[in-house]
This record gives sequence, C-alpha cells and structure tokens, in this order.
Amino acid sequence: VNHLLGIKYLNKKDIDLIFETADHFKEVINRPIKKVPSLRDITIANLFFENSTRTRLSFELAEKRLSADVINFSAASSSVKKGETLIDTVNNILSMKVDMVVMRHPNPGAGVFLSKHVDASIVNAGDGAHEHPTQALLDSYSIRERLGEVAGKKVVIVGDILHSRVALSNIFALKLQGAEVKVCGPKTLIPKYIEKLGVEVETNLRKALEWCDIANMLRVQNERMEISYFPSTREYTQQFGVNKKLLDSLNKEIVIMHPGPINRGVEITSDVADSDQAIILDQVQNGVAVRMAVIYLLASKIKR
Ligand code: CP
Repeated sequence: VNHLLGIKYLNKKDIDLIFETADHFKEVINRPIKKVPSLRDITIANLFFENSTRTRLSFELAEKRLSADVINFSAASSSVKKGETLIDTVNNILSMKVDMVVMRHPNPGAGVFLSKHVDASIVNAGDGAHEHPTQALLDSYSIRERLGEVAGKKVVIVGDILHSRVALSNIFALKLQGAEVKVCGPKTLIPKYIEKLGVEVETNLRKALEWCDIANMLRVQNERMEISYFPSTREYTQQFGVNKKLLDSLNKEIVIMHPGPINRGVEITSDVADSDQAIILDQVQNGVAVRMAVIYLLASKIKR
C-alpha cells in the first residue's frame, strides 16, 4: 500500500510527476464538465480530528472531481468522544470497504502510526506541528505557476516556525527542488534544529524581504502554545507583520503567499492579502488539482 505521509519521504522525481499530473487536472477542472471517471471504483474516507476549512473542502472536491465515492468524518460529532481509539475508529470505517484514508490529526506522526496498523492508503492532511505535505506541494506548484520554476528562487517563511507543519513541509519541498530557504520570526518561535535543515535564520523582516523573491506568511498558532511565546500581538505585528508601506519601500516586487487561515492585521494587512502581489487564492485553487494528482497517483497503486 502506498501513502503520502510527508514530503520527507518523497524525492524530486515524485514531485515532478505530481506536478505534471496536476497540470492535466488543472486543465480538466477548468472545462465546463469538471469531472473525470478515473476513480469510479474507489472509496475515500476523509477523517478530520482537527478543524479545517480549505484542506477538507479541497480534498473532498478533488475526490469528487475524480468520481470517487466519498465519506466524511469529523471527530467532534463522532464516537471518539465516547473513548474509541484511533485504530478502532479507522478499522470500523475500513470494514465498510474503504480504499483510502485522508486524515488530519493533532498528534505529530499520527499518519505514520495509522499506516502501520491499517490496510489502506493513507494521505496526511496535517499531523500536529509535523507535516502538511499537500499544502507544501500546492505552495510549490503555485510558485512554479507564478515564477516559472522553483529552482533557484529565494523563499522566506515568516512567522511561527516552531508550531508550523506548513513550514517544515515547505522547507523539505523547496530544498528538494533547489530553492534557497530562510526563516524569519521571533527567536522564541524558531526551532533549534532549523539550521540542520540547511535553512538560515533572519530575525529582521526588512532584511529577509530584501533578500527574497517570495515571502510565505504564517499565522501565529496560539492554539498550539501552552505559554505565551511573544509579549503581545501588537509587538509581533510591528516586527513581523507585512503591510503595503513596507512592501512598497523595497526596491522590487516580491510574491506574497499565505496558507490560510489569515489573521488579517496581524501577520498581513488586507491591502497586501487582497493585492495582485499575493497569490493566496491561487494557492487554494491549485490545491484541488494538486490533491487530485496525489489521490490519482496513489489510487493507481491500489489493487482492484
Ligand atoms: N491551509 C490549511 O491547512 O487550512 P485549513 O486549516 O483551513 O485546512
């Protein structure tokens, strides 16, 4: 059984194949009839043990565009609340003849754990502060679409790196494709191991923006913090928030990305988020084609 558990398990050829396949599906979903019959014989369960708007809807739409049968599960309204274990929950769902599981879970490594205990193809839709592989794939795909290629581009990831699965998956994906990566944020929100990944730290936002071609702005994930890592939101915004005045004062136009959800006025102002410089909604749109590609390629390895 094949899985997508993290970018760290992929190589450059895997990413190239996913992007070529996504190019095809992007063309398909822009046709008047947006569906293909490829996965008529496949059933996919979307298991969300943590909140989501974009990822959940994007996976569901991708699966439906491929004509798969889809069932959706949300922990909040399930028997998990009655004490059922993850493996029991998933095996009960799989006994209904499910071929693939897309799972978001608050615990890092939940996808890897599940892949060792159940007989289905597992797609990680975000596991705690560990990885969010399809987000990183759609992010690189969107850079490739806007700037032609990822190789050689300078990308700064700004904000709460410590609690971010988006940051870690992006670092793996960007480095595999030959981009240069820096992170920028308060020291308290930068993990100690970051330089071991070949990533430089820049604590001055202006310097980071002057260096980069692309800035990927992240949200401060207060929900993952037991203590406050930074004195105040106001101070964070002053030092690490992007606004139009700051961007206009640079001697070049950089591309602005954000995985969502945005906290407007904290890490990014509306005049930047809603500008042509930002590709935030392109990222969301590309997510459907990229997830179709991932699911299609994994399904091609399922015996049927
Ligand atoms: N980018 C992202 O994962 O958003 P959701 O949490 O809304 O899925």
